[in-house]
Amino acid sequence: MHKAGTNDDISFGNTIALMLQQITFPSGTVNYYFDSKVELLWELFATRQVVLITDRNIASLFPALFRGRNTIVLQGGESCKDYSTIVSICNRLIEFEATRSTLLIGIGGGVITDITGFVASVYMRGVSFGFVPTSLLCMVDAAIGGKNGINLGLHKNMMGTISQPEFILYDMRFLKTLPDTEWSNGFAEIIKYGCIFDATMFEELRNSTLAVYKTDSIALKSIIDRCVQWKNTTVQTDEHEKGIRKLLNFGHTAGHAIETLYKIPHGSAVGIGMLIACDISTTVNGLNANTSWQLLLTLTQYNLPTQIPINVPSIMSILRSDKKRNKNTIDYIVLTAPGNATIKPLPFNVIENALNTYESNN
Ligand SMILES: NC(=O)c1ccc[n+]([C@@H]2O[C@H](COP(=O)([O-])OP(=O)(O)OC[C@H]3O[C@@H](n4cnc5c(N)ncnc54)[C@H](O)[C@@H]3O)[C@@H](O)[C@H]2O)c1
Repeated sequence: MHKAGTNDDISFGNTIALMLQQITFPSGTVNYYFDSKVELLWELFATRQVVLITDRNIASLFPALFRGRNTIVLQGGESCKDYSTIVSICNRLIEFEATRSTLLIGIGGGVITDITGFVASVYMRGVSFGFVPTSLLCMVDAAIGGKNGINLGLHKNMMGTISQPEFILYDMRFLKTLPDTEWSNGFAEIIKYGCIFDATMFEELRNSTLAVYKTDSIALKSIIDRCVQWKNTTVQTDEHEKGIRKLLNFGHTAGHAIETLYKIPHGSAVGIGMLIACDISTTVNGLNANTSWQLLLTLTQYNLPTQIPINVPSIMSILRSDKKRNKNTIDYIVLTAPGNATIKPLPFNVIENALNTYESNN
């Protein structure tokens, strides 16, 4: 997998081949272990104090992984991505006598990696951390790029830091237990990369289905790899989201509000957000209307919802305090064509009109 950055193939002991690739960002270098096995952690960090952070699902599916190790098990789910969880983790770290040299490792989906990165950035003013992403969405997106956020009431990721993990380790065996809905959620972010950066990938996704990728491990690894490369390249250029990184928010502006209000999974909400963004793109950016239709069919092929009832005033009230808003506009990611996105400051009424159209079509 993954060809960017320096590339050292190291044989690790007799059992685990270690594929280490180092990707350098302005704020630090991340060691990527692709095609790896989670057990490698115990050998890599044998001499360091490690505290694992995970959620109840992962802890109960893989008990042997955590047995005898300092582990903090969170309830899991979006609702635990809040300040009270951070405080309780810090208290547990004090109980574990964690110091500045302790390594925190988040093993889980995007909720766990976001929380682990955030807590590691603030505990004792910052300790090292690493991730083992276990959901597809986390493998292609959430674990990558150094954004570590928690929610504040109705506002998604309103508090957070940008700091890079020391490592990200990919163990594809975790996907064997991933529920179907979470596969779909992961594909929402994969479809996003196709929409904004990669017309060829968009075509490939259009011509395939979730069932195909679930059974074809080579095709799956290849598409994960391309997403990782797109995200890393983007973040290397613009770690603090002053320009091109904003493109990764395609579908996320309305998507985040929908996720928060209707308690639907992140990926599903992003899918609907992308449909709304496509409609806006047709109105303000000359996008061929056929692209919206292609996107809708593609989302359906990956078992993602395309129609949910929404309440426009509630969504608008969240958007008016979005992180990407200016005084009377909001920076919206729109498409020019599949694989080609741009940032447009849009007046709120343009977004409201698109939401009204979506609402009336449902
Ligand atoms: N930091 C970023 O750049 C970034 C980017 C995208 C998304 N995110 C965040 O990521 C979160 C969404 O991530 P997610 O979809 O992974 O959510 P999640 O962590 O809630 O995981 C989804 C569900 O899948 C379960 N799960 C995970 N791996 C599993 C496995 N191998 N087997 C069985 N069950 C498994 C989890 O227990 C959970 O119930 C959101 O909070 C979103 O804001 C962050």
